[in-house]
Amino acid sequence: MDRRKFIRNSTIVAGTTILPSGILFAKDKGNIKLGYIGVGLRGRNHIREGLLRDDVEIAAICDIQESSLKLCREQFVKAGKKLPEEYTGSLDAYKRLLERKELDAVIISTPWQFHKDQAIDAMNAGKYVGCEVIAGLTVQDHWDVVNTSEKTGIPYMTLENVCYRRDVLAVLNMVRAGEFGELVHLEGGYQHDLRDVLFNDGKNFYGHGVEFGQEKSIGEAQWRTQYNIDVDGDLYPTHGLGPVMNYIDINRGNRLTNMVSFSSKARGLADYVNKQSPGHPNSKINYKNGDIVTTLINCANGETISLTHDTHLPRPYSIGFRVQGTNGIWMDVAKSIHIEGKSKSHKWDSTKEWFEKYDHPLWKKYADIAQGAGHGGMDWFVFNAFVQAVKQKKQTPIDVYDSVTMSVVFPLSVKSLEEGNASQDIPDFTRGKWSSRKNTFALDDSGF
Ligand SMILES: NC(=O)c1ccc[n+]([C@@H]2O[C@H](COP(=O)([O-])OP(=O)(O)OC[C@H]3O[C@@H](n4cnc5c(N)ncnc54)[C@H](O)[C@@H]3O)[C@@H](O)[C@H]2O)c1
Repeated sequence: MDRRKFIRNSTIVAGTTILPSGILFAKDKGNIKLGYIGVGLRGRNHIREGLLRDDVEIAAICDIQESSLKLCREQFVKAGKKLPEEYTGSLDAYKRLLERKELDAVIISTPWQFHKDQAIDAMNAGKYVGCEVIAGLTVQDHWDVVNTSEKTGIPYMTLENVCYRRDVLAVLNMVRAGEFGELVHLEGGYQHDLRDVLFNDGKNFYGHGVEFGQEKSIGEAQWRTQYNIDVDGDLYPTHGLGPVMNYIDINRGNRLTNMVSFSSKARGLADYVNKQSPGHPNSKINYKNGDIVTTLINCANGETISLTHDTHLPRPYSIGFRVQGTNGIWMDVAKSIHIEGKSKSHKWDSTKEWFEKYDHPLWKKYADIAQGAGHGGMDWFVFNAFVQAVKQKKQTPIDVYDSVTMSVVFPLSVKSLEEGNASQDIPDFTRGKWSSRKNTFALDDSGF
C-alpha cells in the first residue's frame, strides 16, 4: 500500500472516533459511486484521487478518445481496482453514462465548450456535479447552470482547487482573525506560461513541437489554443478570483457589482512558435487573445479587485495574490506580509512564521494525506470537499452561485473588450440572497 493510502486509511479510522461532529467518514452515507466525463490530463488527476479512496467507487468513465481511456484504464490496473464501465464513440456518449441510476455524482473534466450542457444534463439526471473550471462560455450559460441547479435542487461545484492552497487558506484564517483589518483591495490572476501546453508535437504533452488542433497535437493543445486564436478576454478567471471571493465574503454579505477589462497586444504565442520553428505557419496566425488581460472589479462593500490573465509570455508560475487592508498586506510573489504594529515599520516579514501560526485547520489535519496530490496537495482538498458533500447529501462548499460568479468574468471580459473597455454589470446570480447568505467555506477542519 502506498504511503498516502496508508496514512489516509489510518486517519479515517481515527477520524471516526475523534470528530466532534461524528458525521465524517464513518457515520455518513458510506460509499458513493462516481462517473467521470472526460479523462484527459485533469480527469486522470481526479481519477488518481478517487482510486486512493475506499469511500469512492469509480463506476463509469466517458471520453471520446481511446488514448485518454487507455491511460485511464492503466491507472485502474495499477491500483488493483475493478475497471469501470466505459462510454465513448460520440460527443454525447456521456448521456448514456448519465442514465446509470446508481451514480451519485459526476466529475466533468472536458474542454470548456462542453461543461455547460454536460453539467445541466447531469443535474437533470439527479447527479451532483463537480465541474472543472469554467462553468460556461456566455452569460446565459451561467444563468442556465444556476436555473437548472435551482430547479432540480442538485448542487453544482466548480472544482476550484486554488481555494484550498495552503497559503491561501492560511491567509483566509488571518483575514477572519482580523490581522489585515478591513480589506480594501485584492489581486489575483492566472499567470502561467502555457506556451508549451498550447503547442506540442502530437506525441509529448509538454515542451516539444509547435502544433495545435485535434489532428496534430495532444492534450489541451487540441482545443484550448483555438480559444487564444478566436477570443480576447480573461479566459481563466477562477484561480485568482475564487480565493479572493472567500476573503471578502462574495455572495455572503458582499457581491461583485461591475467590471472592466483591458487587453495588451498579442505577441507571445506567435513569437514562441517562431523561436521554436522559424517561419512555421503557426507563427503567422493572428492570435486574438491579448498577452496580458487585466480586469478591474468593484464590490458592493467598496473593495476593488484586479485580475490578470497572463499565459503567453515567459514567466514563472504565480497567481499574484495581494490582499490589502487597513492593518496590513500579503503579496504571494514576494512571499511577504506586513502587519502594522507587528511587523517592523515599512519592512516586509517573511510569510513563513505567519503561515505556521495561521495554518488552516484543514491543512493541520490532512496535510499528510494530501501530500503528493496534484498542485502541492490542494487537489486532494477540493476532491475531498466534493466527495464529503455528496456522501452527506449536503450543499457543496463552493456552491452554484459561487461557481458561476467566479467564472462569468470570462464572457463579461470578452464583452468589455468588444465594447471598447466598457463597464459590464456582473449579474447577481443569487437574486438578492447575497446580502443574507452565511459563509460556509472552510470554517473548520471538517473536510469542507
Ligand atoms: N483546476 C486545475 O488545476 C486544472 C488543471 C488542468 C485543467 N483543468 C481544466 O480541466 C478541464 C480539462 O482539461 P485537461 O487538461 O484535462 O484537457 P485534456 O485535453 O487533457 O482532456 C480533455 C479530455 O476530454 C475529452 N473529451 C472531449 N470532448 C468530450 C466529450 N464530449 N465527452 C467526453 N470526453 C470528451 C478529451 O478526449 C480529453 O481526453 C478544462 O476545463 C481545464 O481548464 C483544470
